[in-house]
Amino acid sequence: MTIENLARAEIVAMKPYSSARKEAPGKGILLNANEAPWSLLESAMALNRYPDPQPERLVQRLAALYGTEPQNVLVTRGSDEGIDLLTRVFCRAGQDAILQTPPAFGMYRIAAQTQGASVVSVPRDSKTFTLDEAGVLDALKDDPRIKLVYLTSPSNPTGDVVTSAFLDSVLETAEGRALVVVDEAYAEFSNHPSFVPAVGKNEHLVVLRTLSKAWASAGLRCGTVIAQPSVISLLRRIIAPYPLPSPVVSLALAMLDEGVIEKQGDLLRQLRHNKGILLGMLEARSFVRGVVPGEANFVLIRVDDAEALLGFCARRDVILRGFPADPALQNCIRISVGSTDDLAQLKAAFDAWEKRL
Ligand SMILES: Cc1ncc(COP(=O)(O)O)c(C=O)c1O
Repeated sequence: MTIENLARAEIVAMKPYSSARKEAPGKGILLNANEAPWSLLESAMALNRYPDPQPERLVQRLAALYGTEPQNVLVTRGSDEGIDLLTRVFCRAGQDAILQTPPAFGMYRIAAQTQGASVVSVPRDSKTFTLDEAGVLDALKDDPRIKLVYLTSPSNPTGDVVTSAFLDSVLETAEGRALVVVDEAYAEFSNHPSFVPAVGKNEHLVVLRTLSKAWASAGLRCGTVIAQPSVISLLRRIIAPYPLPSPVVSLALAMLDEGVIEKQGDLLRQLRHNKGILLGMLEARSFVRGVVPGEANFVLIRVDDAEALLGFCARRDVILRGFPADPALQNCIRISVGSTDDLAQLKAAFDAWEKRL
């Protein structure tokens, strides 16, 4: 069974769009893409030209950053686009399904439902949020509709990591049936090693990385799908012809510059320190019923009345994340680790809330 057998037959059969830039990668007198001959902005010299669909330097830098080879990399508009591409390539509307372990990041479900695929949920423990590992393996064995298994490490919003023993079991069960997608959006915040090195050994494994979180670049929209070339070439069949705007590419390259890499180390150290401050601030609070620290740049707490507390904080300009529509997260609030000033403002809001009780 090859990976192509797992993909939608019409995607495998289709002749992909071949863009002008793909056919002639930007050298010579370019009269092939109906572009303007010059840019109106001096600061953005080449803005009149379509960008390279997968700019070689950026692909190389991201491959080096994540410890893989350029042929295993697809650069996308954030991990959100990676999730969308995987769903559209591997899930047939009305026939296939994804597997998720809620509470989980919402876009796995949204992408599946947009595609008309089903969502198989293996819920976590309602009190501890522990992953039901046996449940995931059973569902995957029993349900041939499942084409994508989403594991998130560290997870959002619970912050726990996937163990390599469990991933090995899932990959073994998934062989010839489904791809296993490990979303490592928060990997840099954890001491747990990345699963990227395992991609070379397993065609069924896909890892998602992003510059949005630990690289302080959510505004860039720059994500990376890491998988074997068989998977990457299927995704390339349907990705937009020019997914990465030229300014994004040059900013992403600037971001991965040596000087900024040092700054990124400082950011991680500072956020780790601030997470300690946040956890300390949550200790012995009369209204906090539980704290799930996790391994990412956020903390999940349970309180008596999340809606009232969220409103109270918002009136003090402190915006936290509640989950009113998710029954598994009733009265839970996710707090991102901010700057020391942000945390001081949060503390003032919590102190004021506590005084009212
Ligand atoms: C687990 C997880 N995956 C992916 C994303 C989306 O990342 P990106 O900004 O790269 O689209 C998020 C964003 O919050 C997330 O929490």
